[in-house]
Amino acid sequence: MSYQNITVSAAVRGIVRTLCQQEELVLLRDHLLRLDHQSRHDRFHGFMDDSFIERYAEKCANDGTVIIAYLEDGVVRGAAELHPPATSSDLPEIAFSVERGLRRLGVGSLLFQKLIEEAHARGYRRLRITTGAQNDAMRALANKFGAHLSFCQGESTGTIEVEQTAPPAFAPAAVIPIDAARAVIQFNRAYWKFWLGLYGWKQAA
Ligand SMILES: CC(C)(COP(=O)(O)OP(=O)(O)OC[C@H]1O[C@@H](n2cnc3c(N)ncnc32)[C@H](O)[C@@H]1OP(=O)(O)O)[C@@H](O)C(=O)NCCC(=O)NCCS
Repeated sequence: MSYQNITVSAAVRGIVRTLCQQEELVLLRDHLLRLDHQSRHDRFHGFMDDSFIERYAEKCANDGTVIIAYLEDGVVRGAAELHPPATSSDLPEIAFSVERGLRRLGVGSLLFQKLIEEAHARGYRRLRITTGAQNDAMRALANKFGAHLSFCQGESTGTIEVEQTAPPAFAPAAVIPIDAARAVIQFNRAYWKFWLGLYGWKQAA
């Protein structure tokens, strides 16, 4: 399973990779500590103080959690977390966070894509996500991949079927402007050749 057609803004200049457990989990901690008040609320369902986040990051370093991170200059600015199920009857839990200055540029989509690939490779069929039913950003992100987030009334836990997630409808990968310009010129030539040909005009296009 490999999605190639995620379009990101030109402002996205970092890299996405999995963090090494233990050694690099401090980068996750610092990222989570940088989240603003509302983001912390959305991400941690109300648990927002620094000491909670510090303990949380430490736990991730030791319990087999996979962290797929978006890094700029070695600093984690976004993360997708895949927590292994605690028991055989539990579902793996996932979570996402992107720092506010980098929102709506496609970073969350990149992380979502990588996380689904990782979950698929591990043979997970369903994933659980806990967030407020009113979290429009998370809903939009999941919907983009056709993932169904179902929330029971009063509950803030949704499930994602790994096999049913699909890449977003095809959008051409980002093209550098010069290529785009060439493509337009070529299209125009072909277009006018076609119409001039129809009218019997022989003209170099
Ligand atoms: C949820 C979150 C990770 C999305 O990250 P992001 O980098 O902004 O996501 P993207 O830029 O890839 O956007 C994905 C899609 O969602 C849409 N979207 C993003 N934020 C939105 C919002 N607030 N309202 C409506 N749509 C939104 C985007 O337009 C995009 O759709 P498009 O490609 O069709 O335009 C980010 O908002 C976040 O970190 N929120 C705080 C923590 C949180 O709530 N985590 C989820 C619970 S674990």
